[in-house]
Amino acid sequence: MIDQNKLPHSFEITACGTAAQTAKAIKDMTVRGAPAIGAAAGFAMAQAISENPKTSAAARATIESTRPTAVDLFYSTKRVFDAAAQATDGAKTAWSEANAIAGESVAACKAIGETGLDEVFGKRKKMRIMTHCNAGWLACVDWGTALAPIYAAKASGLEPFVYCTETRPRGQGARLTAFELSNEGVDHAIIADGAAAWLMKKGEIDAVIVGADRIAANGDTANKIGTFGHAIAAKEHGLPFFVAAPTSTIDPGLENGESIPIEERDENEVHLVRGVDEAGVVRTVRWTNPASHARNPAFDVTPARLITQIITEKGISTPSRIKELVE
Ligand code: MRU
Repeated sequence: MIDQNKLPHSFEITACGTAAQTAKAIKDMTVRGAPAIGAAAGFAMAQAISENPKTSAAARATIESTRPTAVDLFYSTKRVFDAAAQATDGAKTAWSEANAIAGESVAACKAIGETGLDEVFGKRKKMRIMTHCNAGWLACVDWGTALAPIYAAKASGLEPFVYCTETRPRGQGARLTAFELSNEGVDHAIIADGAAAWLMKKGEIDAVIVGADRIAANGDTANKIGTFGHAIAAKEHGLPFFVAAPTSTIDPGLENGESIPIEERDENEVHLVRGVDEAGVVRTVRWTNPASHARNPAFDVTPARLITQIITEKGISTPSRIKELVE
């Protein structure tokens, strides 16, 4: 997998040879983004079944304890575990199921791009779109979710301009979305998270599109911390607020967003920043007041009423009808 903790300062591929290593890579965010976490969890489950089928239930619990919010993780471990349990050749079946999940993710993201292109851009050649966190190909197996329509627009000759919010504390927008957009030749600017509402007010943003980590049956959507505030700001300014996600991110068993588990991560992610110094050396430094503690909720839940449309590989839905896509 691409080591996302090292980006954008270096591009490194890291190999995870055991289920424990893959689980650790999910937990420490070497791999992150709901569909990429889902794909990695499927392979971790296949590794665990190959290593020892008798301990695979315990291994599943370990994999599922890495990150609580993105439902794709649980979708994948269940699919691989159940497929292997019903097969005579468990390990072989587990690997083919994990591969199938990864392949389906690529196809879903491509379809999200094609559908989202029409819905978000319509016939407009130039659009200024804001996105939060990173929901591009780094966060998926390929294409992305929120960024897929933007890549489709660019490929079809349109001229998207993307505002990427920094996404404190881990900087997925400043580090990862900006890295992707540079590589794809898409015009963009990084903005501080707090600048979003002001740019909307000034009429400099036409639409917002974000990914999702878990969508409840009523359309309430968990995504990276800060998404909720951007949705409120978009509503205030009459801007469309799109969520793009594969149907594997829908959790029809949860009636609403109240019961989506929200991960709280280590406070050091708020205190420490990693970057390149003037001599070109990558360093991690503490930039917050040494005597202060920090809180670090990693996700929030945007109520369905603030979401204009949800774009999936099976088509577009209003939040209130999202459950129908998985029935
Ligand atoms: O903590 P992260 O970086 O895994 O959070 C990622 C997000 O919140 C993304 O927006 C979401 O997973 C969708 S990725 C296509």
